[in-house]
Formats: sequence, C-alpha cells, structure tokens
Amino acid sequence: MQITPEILQKLQQIVGETFVFTDQETRNHYGHDETEDYVFPPSVVVKPVNVIEISEILKLANQYKIPVTAIGARTGLSGGALSIRQGIGLSMERFNKILEIDEKNLQVTVEPAVITQVLRESVAEKGLFYPPDPSSQGSCWIGGNVAENAGGARAVKYGVTKDYVLNLEVVLPNGEIIWTGANTLKNSTGYNLTQLMVGSEGTLGIITKIVMKLLPKVNHNVLMLVPFYNATQACEAVSAIFRAGIIPSALEFMERDAIDWALKFIDGLNVQVSDGIQAHLLIEVDGNYPEILMQEAEKIMTVVEQFQIDEILFADTEDQKNAIWKMRRNIAEAVKANSIYKEEDTVVPRYELPKLLQGIKRIGNKYGFKSVCYGHAGDGNLHVNIIKANMTDENWKTEVPKGIREIFELTVSLKGTLSGEHGIGFVQKNYMDIAFSEVHLELMKRIKFVFDPNGILNPGKIFPDC
Ligand code: LAC
Ligand code: ZN
Repeated sequence: MQITPEILQKLQQIVGETFVFTDQETRNHYGHDETEDYVFPPSVVVKPVNVIEISEILKLANQYKIPVTAIGARTGLSGGALSIRQGIGLSMERFNKILEIDEKNLQVTVEPAVITQVLRESVAEKGLFYPPDPSSQGSCWIGGNVAENAGGARAVKYGVTKDYVLNLEVVLPNGEIIWTGANTLKNSTGYNLTQLMVGSEGTLGIITKIVMKLLPKVNHNVLMLVPFYNATQACEAVSAIFRAGIIPSALEFMERDAIDWALKFIDGLNVQVSDGIQAHLLIEVDGNYPEILMQEAEKIMTVVEQFQIDEILFADTEDQKNAIWKMRRNIAEAVKANSIYKEEDTVVPRYELPKLLQGIKRIGNKYGFKSVCYGHAGDGNLHVNIIKANMTDENWKTEVPKGIREIFELTVSLKGTLSGEHGIGFVQKNYMDIAFSEVHLELMKRIKFVFDPNGILNPGKIFPDC
C-alpha cells in the first residue's frame, strides 16, 4: 500500500505536521542501522509523542495495511529497525524519559528512547544497578534492548535484558493498549506475554513503557587481561574458570586481530601484546568485599596458569579499567573500519566454545574467508566477523553464505543457536530453518498472526518467507 496524500494528511493530523517527514534525507537517515551497509528508507518518518498517538497511527496503518517499523537508536546489528517493506518508520525518539525510579521496590519505569547508559547512570546515582551493558550502551536505547533482548559483557553473571523486564505497556497493531504483566518479581498468572514481547523485534506490538527491576549497586571489581598463546586454549579456560567455582562478572574472549584492530582504532591505550599471542581473555570479578575478590582473582590465576599464557595484566586504576573496556567495546567499530564484513552472533553451551572456534576456522579455510572472533565467552556467545579483505565480490556473494550456513549448522549441532543477543532481524532470517523445524516455525507464525493478522508490524523480519 502506497502512502497516499490522504494518509499523509491523516498522519499529520495525529502527530502534527512538524513530526511527519517525507524528504529523502530524513528517510535515508532513518533507513539504516549498524548492520553492515544496508539502507531501507521508510516511505514516511513519523515521530509520535505519546501512546495515544501511536495507537491512532497503528489503527490507521492496520486499516490501510501499511507496514510500520519501530525505529530506535539504530545501533542494531541484525537489521531489526530497517524498513524493508517501506511504509511508516515510527521513530520512538520523543519517548525519552525515565518516568520513575522506585527506590523502595528497586524498580524503574522508563520510556523506550532512553539511552541505556543514561539509565544505568541515573539509577547508579540512587545506589542502584541496572546490569545489562551492550557495547553500544553509550548510544543504544533501552527500547531497542528490549526489542532485541540485548546482552552485553555483564550478562554472564547478571543475565540479559529479559531478566530485568517485569512489565510492558504495549500498543497492539489494532491500536489497543495493554500492560503485559504486573510490577512484581514473581508472576505465575497466565501466559507470559511480557517475555513474549521481549526479543520479538517489533513484530508483535510497539513498546511504550518498560518496568524493570534493579539491583543494589556493587562497589568493587578486579579486572585482568590474560594473553594466551593458543586461542583454543583460551576457550578451554573459560569453562574451567566456572568449574573452579567462580562466576565472573565478565568473561570476554578476543582474538588477536580483534585486539590489534581495536588498539589501532582508539588512541591512547597502552597495551603491549607479545608476538605469538593468539587471543586474550578479559576477566572481571565484582562484589562488595575486596578481600574476597582478591581470592577469586587468585583462583582464576591458578586456572589460567595451567594453559600457555603470557604475563597477566591487572588493571590498577579506574582509568586503566575504563581504557580496557573502551578497547573491548570498540571492536565492532574497529572491524567495520577495517573491511567490509558480516557479523554473526553464534552461541553455544560454553564448554563447546573450543569446538565452535576451531570449526569456524575450518569452515573459513574451506570457503576462503578470514574471520575475526570475539565476544562473551562466559556465555558461549561468540561474535564471528567474516572479513571480506581481498575476497572477490563473486566469492563474497556465493561462498560466504554457504560458509555461514555451515557455521550455523555447527552451532546448532553443538546444541547452540543462531543469535545470542543481536536478534534475527533481516540478516539472519534465511537461516532459521537450521534452528527450527517447520512445526516450530509454524507455531511462531501463528503467534504473530494472533497479534498482527494483517502483518503490518515490521514485515520482512525473523521468518524466512515473510
Ligand atoms: C559486542 C557487540 C557487537 O559485543 O555485541 O561488542
Ligand atoms: Zn556482544
């Protein structure tokens, strides 16, 4: 369905003329996220300010069967916010308030366009802790985090976004407004629509308010960077650390190229990497008792010293810790600056990580591509960056998808799955048959149909044939 002058006029009546945009520049701006170099501009960008306006927009879209794609900070890595079928690009940017920090119940009610780091810092000022910390936390929005069920480095100890969502205000495609659950830590009352919405990538409803649980602030941490001469051994050390009785607050893996490229990409960080080092583990433990943290750090040292490692770097100062985290968080950007690439978000049970890494390298050799791997090793979550470098366009187009398919088949054979935290969105949807049977996919499609019988919300996502 085209956006006719009549529909444009109705949109203008709902949100006001100044919040409806049809110029090419604005449409392009809202037509991309951080997923490779895809651009899918919506036909029109609208910027509603409240839930009633969203309800009215969805009623209109539903009546005329116009696609609606919710657009957040556009930091996504699976193309979830791309307007594949054009239509209305629903920018959530005016929903940018923290509505209430409930210190008595350790909860926060927030609108979707609040930057995740702003949320984390605002609750920290009250002595509270919102743990999920995607690498893009300085720019991503909490609504996008909920829509994609984002993770981050602290997920290994504290869980991912879903573990903090208690209740959601959602506008359904027919314009109805519901709260999905209750503001309680426990809830065994009916189907769990809250968690169905989390990670549904804007395909079931538009989230307008989010109630999240918080934790008390944690005051101390110890951070170490361990260089391994052998990348597979670094992966083996990951499960060994847990089996020694430690739950780190972060346990990140970085292949040599990832760290080298990140060091080149950001200025002023002084980390020396010896020749022959293939990978690093970045390990953090946190808590409120420094002596216990030192004991845990020593236990971790005993574990990693069983492998071939170089000297461990302990970050002594806050500045050094921040610099190391900055390096880690900038890997994705550094890879992007280095070459055309494709990023996959594989996840396996953590003990299978060495097999996954070796398999990825074997598959890369078979199809002629180099990969740079890094990620949340403690969660078995490996970001696989397939680098175009000198590959021909032809091989990039034909061989790489075969290689990706094989990587996902390996992942699933190890009892893992396609995406740990980035979502399926647009770029992974053609691989869903590897993770799910027809029966399973059909069940999901029927759920989608119950919510959105006209298929207006974020069409072209998640399902291979949509
Ligand atoms: C990271 C993003 C890419 O871990 O998920 O840096
Ligand atoms: Zn990640």
